[in-house]
Amino acid sequence: MSQPYEQYLQETLIDSDTLQARIRELAHEINTDYASSQNVLLVCILKGGVMFLTDLMRHITVPHGIDFMAISSYGDGVRESSGRVRIEMDLRQDIAGKHLLIVEDIIDSGHTMQYILSLLETRQPDSIRICTLLSKPSRRQIELDVDYVGFEIPDKFVFGYGLDLDEYFRNLPFIGVCKPDITVGEH
Ligand code: IMP
Ligand code: MG
Repeated sequence: MSQPYEQYLQETLIDSDTLQARIRELAHEINTDYASSQNVLLVCILKGGVMFLTDLMRHITVPHGIDFMAISSYGDGVRESSGRVRIEMDLRQDIAGKHLLIVEDIIDSGHTMQYILSLLETRQPDSIRICTLLSKPSRRQIELDVDYVGFEIPDKFVFGYGLDLDEYFRNLPFIGVCKPDITVGEH
């Protein structure tokens, strides 16, 4: 039987095994880089970063806490970044003196990450690094130092593995490319 997402899927870009293998590699890098750090806090950017966080943290052996922030930059149904970024839910803790690792699903124009960085820097953490599963370098408008990148991908709208297609299909275990100019109805 065909799955509901199949009508929107142009192609699978990154399959589940490839994602998981790369996530293990990223975790190993993180384990090495943070081996002598205390007060490590993974800051997951909701909602898109949630799948990546939960898989990544399973392989992180350095003691760490987790916290969540929700940011919106895309209006409902709009697939272009407006450059307008808003905080929907803030962290629940003081981050002064902590080593932050921001865990994000995708960096596109870079506006969202720039906003997050400038906000968190004012709160005096000891360090901030960025870990993104996906990056679209050809779309970048803001120059950013990204410490950990899972995959660089072309300028295509992708969904699955935390990323949504009009709020659906975040549950898929792989990253798929959406067919162009398609809108998702009710499911
Ligand atoms: P930026 O501010 O342009 O870097 O956009 C970052 C945010 O836009 C990400 O955190 C995602 O939520 C969303 N986004 C960008 N590209 C895609 C995509 O291809 N699929 C789903 N969400 C995306
Ligand atoms: Mg996001």
